[in-house]
Amino acid sequence: MILSIESSCDDSSLAVTEVATKKLLFHQKISQDAEHTVYGGVVPELASRLHAVALPKILESTREFLPHLKAIAVTHEPGFHVTLMEGIMMAKALSLSLHLPLIGINHLIGHVYSLFIEQEAKLPLSVLLVSGGHTMILEVRSSTDVSIVAQTLDDSFGESFDKVAKMLNLGYPGGPIVEKRAKKGNPDSHAFPIPLRNSRELAFSFSGLKNAVRIAIEQQTAPLEKPVVANICASFQHAAVTHLLHKTRRYLEHSPYDQFAIVGGASANQSLRESMEQLCSKFGKTLLLAPLPYCSDNAAMIGRAAIDFYEARRFAPIELLHAHPRSTLFHS
Ligand code: KG4
Ligand code: ZN
Repeated sequence: MILSIESSCDDSSLAVTEVATKKLLFHQKISQDAEHTVYGGVVPELASRLHAVALPKILESTREFLPHLKAIAVTHEPGFHVTLMEGIMMAKALSLSLHLPLIGINHLIGHVYSLFIEQEAKLPLSVLLVSGGHTMILEVRSSTDVSIVAQTLDDSFGESFDKVAKMLNLGYPGGPIVEKRAKKGNPDSHAFPIPLRNSRELAFSFSGLKNAVRIAIEQQTAPLEKPVVANICASFQHAAVTHLLHKTRRYLEHSPYDQFAIVGGASANQSLRESMEQLCSKFGKTLLLAPLPYCSDNAAMIGRAAIDFYEARRFAPIELLHAHPRSTLFHS
């Protein structure tokens, strides 16, 4: 069995996965949404202190698995340095005390492997990764052979939902809240600009759209009643999802792979999932979706990725396993 640890942002999570069957045996996560909601976003130092309490608490529940462990896996990049360090320190302490090898997992590779927690791994594939920190199209040939085809020039897709929620005083994380409000609104009520609409560049951008939403909110003369908020959310979501669709369509025209996947916290967005289903069927691509319980950050996906590393004996010497705020793995 492999014990995996995730602490790259504001979710403290541990999982235990069986190597031979790839089965998830244990998974627990403590989220910090309530603590960060007053700030409208994640405060890294606060998140780090909360991990220091939550991770050992979850570890208590894994006692029965400890004698059966073959390796300890931990997210070591990308993420907040201070929060990654909490998971890495726990991983190193366990590795030393239980005499087990360490496996360092890139968080984004973890999101890709969320696809294979409940079904068999199928590579190669192309992936749209949408989270709070990233918006990318990746071509994944193996757990160590990944190239970036497109990425964001500024904010990420999930982050733009968080910022719109903050501007509307709706709380954090903004994605699920804005999506819920959008269901009651009219997506045609505000003509927000579709980012990079006339650009042939394969890239994403959300800062202009976010600014357009800010201006629309500032132009409201009356207090923001629920229907107005719903209309703003619906129009914003429509523009953000349309932008992802435009760029993904451009990519799919030349994609070498038959399978296309969406992963990451923001891949839980229903409107995005439905639109991508239609797009993929037009192009004859098989769409893989991260299972809803494993879209947002979790240690189960880290454990699943770690099995491939374990089988290839790709262990990280303890003195070389460091926290990296940015990815060191990918090539363009
Ligand atoms: O992958 P994740 O849990 O953390 C990072 O690696 O960043 O993604 C969290 C992000 C947040 O920005 C959150 O607002 C967004 O995913 N998100 C959503 C939805 N659910 C979560 N964005 C849009 N629609 C959703 N339903
Ligand atoms: Zn994530």
